[in-house]
Amino acid sequence: MRLLGIETSCDETAAAIVERDAGGRGAILSNVVRSQLTEHAPFGGVVPELAARAHVSHLDRIVARASADAGVPLADLDGIAATAGPGLIGGVLVGLTTAKALAAALGKPLIAVNHLEAHALTARLTDGLAFPYLLLLVSGGHSQFVLVRGVGDYARWGGTIDDALGEAFDKVAKLLGLGVPGGPEVERLARTGDPARFRLPRPLIRDEGLDFSFSGLKTAVRLAAEQAAPLTQQDAADLCASFQAAVGEVVTSRARRALGRFRADLPQQEPVLVVAGGVAANQAIGAGLRAVAAEAGARLVVPPLPLCTDNGVMVAWAGAERLALGESDGLDSAAKARWPLDSPDMGLRHGH
Ligand code: KG4
Ligand code: ZN
Repeated sequence: MRLLGIETSCDETAAAIVERDAGGRGAILSNVVRSQLTEHAPFGGVVPELAARAHVSHLDRIVARASADAGVPLADLDGIAATAGPGLIGGVLVGLTTAKALAAALGKPLIAVNHLEAHALTARLTDGLAFPYLLLLVSGGHSQFVLVRGVGDYARWGGTIDDALGEAFDKVAKLLGLGVPGGPEVERLARTGDPARFRLPRPLIRDEGLDFSFSGLKTAVRLAAEQAAPLTQQDAADLCASFQAAVGEVVTSRARRALGRFRADLPQQEPVLVVAGGVAANQAIGAGLRAVAAEAGARLVVPPLPLCTDNGVMVAWAGAERLALGESDGLDSAAKARWPLDSPDMGLRHGH
């Protein structure tokens, strides 16, 4: 089966066509992503209204490109998938409404995809992973551990109680006057900095659970920056390095704990940790996770970066996984700003 996937929940307008064979193997036939980075840059963050309007302006053309690149006319598709949440509601409405219109006009099933499920299932397309596995999703909007037991079957083991990890990187970049997106800028500067210069907190590191908290750390960076002001280039680099060391330590210690829980809860299973989201690009955090996985005897899977950040491929693939199980959604499906992976409506309706 071949599906179109539409992603508009944040600042990427994306569409892709993915094929899934009867054996559950996937192939990417096209993948078109248009980032709105330059539109939002003057505001130092994503402006929801601007994002929604940019999705409206570009989505038709991007869907047409996805179809042309794949050499698959829309009429030949087996289904239309779109992110229905969670995300910025204006943008989600643009993508979901477009998908509904296409589904209605073409007479194809609609699959209203949970954006987090799309991130969670990507590794099955890229690495042919079997269930169960542990997902660490670290992006601009999310920081969570999810046990992925099957399509529609998720247990959230931990989340952030305030800022997401990517958001913390972005806020640190903003307060240091660096460019957007902040994460890569902080990482670049951190390479020339001293990670031991500033003593920053490691929030929740001794906590028994698997939750994250980054807002206090961000405040500690701001206070340190104010005390050291006016900042030289080296001061800024030292702050970035100290911040990155702090979050790196928090993430790796949480991952160690999560893998320990995986071993305890699922003793028969090979522990597998999948990392997704834009922060997966961070090499220092990646190296820390590789070390933790090796130490725990776990397999670490990081899908190719363009598939870790927001894209249409993951939406099309999640749609295909659901359609293959006989699942589709009504044209009255609602767009949702909030939609946790473990909410009851994520379960399969046909009970497989
Ligand atoms: O997954 P993503 O593209 O978009 C969503 O948030 O859904 O993630 C973007 C986030 C931004 O906060 C960005 O600063 C962060 O990922 N990021 C990084 C790096 N590259 C991107 N954070 C730290 N280090 C990086 N190299
Ligand atoms: Zn995302």
